[in-house]
Amino acid sequence: MESTLVLLKPDAVKRNLSGEIISRFERRGFGISALKLVRLSRDVAAKHYEEHQNKPFYPALIEFITSGPVVAMVVTGPHAVSIVRKMMGSTNPAEALPGTIRGDYATTMDNNIVHGSDSVASAKREIAIYFTEEEIYE
Ligand code: RTP
Ligand code: MG
Repeated sequence: MESTLVLLKPDAVKRNLSGEIISRFERRGFGISALKLVRLSRDVAAKHYEEHQNKPFYPALIEFITSGPVVAMVVTGPHAVSIVRKMMGSTNPAEALPGTIRGDYATTMDNNIVHGSDSVASAKREIAIYFTEEEIYE
């Protein structure tokens, strides 16, 4: 069993796509071990995206991710990290295949609907940013 952090980004929440996207993970066979609606402070956003601190797109990324509430959740099941990434599709929705979340609901890189941890180590680090151990149900 593996767990990964998924964020439904502000664009997904604003467009009322949360239920639709959560359903995809559930139908695939994953469990939701933790879930909350939360608006990220700039501090939390900076912690989440610390690897991108020096990238040219960083200011816009922080602006976007703090622009409204996100659904934060822990998705759990076999190979959760890599399967969730495949379900999300390419970072750039222009390259994401139909049938993936970004391929079905997004068109541009700066409004790409969903975040999923990119490794088991990232998942561990990111889950701890959003949830205490008591908030996670195995
Ligand atoms: P995420 O972290 O959001 O799940 O996305 P990812 O792993 O697929 O992509 P990552 O490289 O971690 O980038 C994080 C987010 O930054 C924005 N981005 N913009 N303009 C650009 O070149 C660019 N590159 C990345 C995207 O919103 C991406 O999701
Ligand atoms: Mg990433």
